[in-house]
Amino acid sequence: MEERDKAIALLDSGVGGLTLVRELRNLLPGENIVYFGDTARMPYGPRPAAQVQSFALEIMDFLYTAQDIKMVIVACNTATAVGLEHYRKHFPVPILGVLEPGAKAAVNLTRTKRVGVIGTEGTIASRAYPRTICQLDESVQVFDRACPMFVLVVENQLIDTPETLRVAESYLEPLVRENVDALILGCTHYPLMEHVIAQVMGESVVLVNSAWFTASTAREKLAEMDLLRSGSCGWQRFFVSGEPANFEQIGRRLLGYDLKAYRVTF
Ligand code: DGL
Repeated sequence: MEERDKAIALLDSGVGGLTLVRELRNLLPGENIVYFGDTARMPYGPRPAAQVQSFALEIMDFLYTAQDIKMVIVACNTATAVGLEHYRKHFPVPILGVLEPGAKAAVNLTRTKRVGVIGTEGTIASRAYPRTICQLDESVQVFDRACPMFVLVVENQLIDTPETLRVAESYLEPLVRENVDALILGCTHYPLMEHVIAQVMGESVVLVNSAWFTASTAREKLAEMDLLRSGSCGWQRFFVSGEPANFEQIGRRLLGYDLKAYRVTF
């Protein structure tokens, strides 16, 4: 198989990384995509960093050995935050994360230099966002907050309920009070409930969905390596570690077409 025809591999703990599949499809419709959602072991957020690293490596090993791939995107902020450099030592393909593209976008977008970050407990505890933002522009102040319930809300299809709005208010009001003008959705699940987050944050706060910025980074990297696949008919293949039905349902709603997910157990 020609190198450029190989797939871009994505991994996440569940459905969150599908927000990135959607952006890749729009930006690079000719690319083939292989996706792994570790639905049997999600959420990753409360797990120790070493365990998240070992799950991510296990999945990458499957993707690298059983699929023909030319690039890996860790479509999970938690797995990116705790181990991107570590994963890069193990596989001879470019490995991109979702954290830096979102951080860069927020630094460019903020006018008041007050940026909010929301993510899982693991992402927030790693301090990876404040560190990256400070390296990009040390005058930017970062206000971060873990929102552990959001992943469960999305995975269990409970987004448009009054309870979710109340949970969102209690997580986000401290950030509203800090007057942030940009908020990084530092978990790939959060764009699926962006309208609820926007309702609480108000119109003056720009929400940064790192999926688009990551897709654009992937395009730059593939172009640099002369590995872009042109055309408009890339295929997608989905794997999950748990029951496929819920994943397929959320995927259909998000991507706008039927998809089939195959179950893989380790
Ligand atoms: N979607 C993932 C992230 O971006 C993981 C969420 C979780 O499993 O806790 O962090």
